[in-house]
Amino acid sequence: MIVVTGATGGLGSQVFKYLLQLLPSSQITVSLYNPSGASDFIKHSGAQLRQGSYTDSASLDTAWADADKVFLISYPGISRDARVAAHKNAIDAAKRLGIGHVYYTSLGFGTGVSPESIADVMQAHLETERYIKASGLKYTIIREGIYSESWPLYLGFWSKEEGGDEVVIPNADGPIAWVSREDLGEATAKIIVEGAYENETIFLSGPRTYTLTELAALISSILSRPLKVEVGTLEEYIAANHGKRGPRGEVEFLKQWATTYPALAKGECSVVDPTIKRVLGRELKPMEQTLREMLGATDDSIDRYAK
Ligand SMILES: NC(=O)c1ccc[n+]([C@@H]2O[C@H](COP(=O)([O-])OP(=O)(O)OC[C@H]3O[C@@H](n4cnc5c(N)ncnc54)[C@H](OP(=O)(O)O)[C@@H]3O)[C@@H](O)[C@H]2O)c1
Repeated sequence: MIVVTGATGGLGSQVFKYLLQLLPSSQITVSLYNPSGASDFIKHSGAQLRQGSYTDSASLDTAWADADKVFLISYPGISRDARVAAHKNAIDAAKRLGIGHVYYTSLGFGTGVSPESIADVMQAHLETERYIKASGLKYTIIREGIYSESWPLYLGFWSKEEGGDEVVIPNADGPIAWVSREDLGEATAKIIVEGAYENETIFLSGPRTYTLTELAALISSILSRPLKVEVGTLEEYIAANHGKRGPRGEVEFLKQWATTYPALAKGECSVVDPTIKRVLGRELKPMEQTLREMLGATDDSIDRYAK
């Protein structure tokens, strides 16, 4: 039995979709923090649906009771402490229940450049990775690359509807090997089913890099309107975004997120790793295709991640 968490989310829904293509639904259990938010796809999939929250150990003991493998989606949000506490709770539950193999979705900062990262967003993942390795559990840490779909978060929360012709980013720009959630989801599902990469940390990233300046130029050409990136100071970045709707308009969030940019400049997200192409046995979805799709549709990636 494979337990899948986060199956309502951007990445987990893709992992779940592809697991269903690889295994009978009777071998899959969906563990949701909020089962009432289950999609029709989940409800009609034939997989069991159980309530399990990383912040409620008793719920995990029930939801994961008969699992051989657990796919742990990382806890959403930017707060390091809340994320680490949730992850530790989940890993402790897996240990208590004698789960055979844990798959954790870490993040692709620092990979190939330095074992650590200067980005705030990576710190909870690094601490979780250490905790998993010390747990004695069989594990695969999957450093999922930067989602192609998350570009607005990096590009000053720009949107076609509300954005102007210039975006201010703080301090630095750098290359990112963007990778689509669909490609990540399919590869992650295959890795879980095939059982490879035991006690390894692997990295899944996209086929080429784009800096934010290059990305803005691409968007500009797709939409036939001007868009350019201005590398400003932290203060200018905060001033440009302070007061925007949701956490992204808050100074504390902006300061934390600003630590991402020097990490990009160091090349922390620049590595094009061959693993995902090897696992999928096909070409990856180009960033330009994701951009074209998203720019033609309403996008919710800022509300989803800037929290
Ligand atoms: N690689 C990247 O570029 C990138 C970008 C953004 C975020 N991330 C990280 O990757 C994770 C997955 O990305 P995503 O796109 O799938 O995010 P997402 O759409 O925000 O989904 C997060 C999932 O977390 C689950 N969740 C929330 N509270 C929970 C709790 N207390 N216990 C257990 N599960 C809980 C939610 O599912 P239910 O409430 O239905 O259980 C939801 O499906 C994010 O959470 C974040 O840590 C990575």
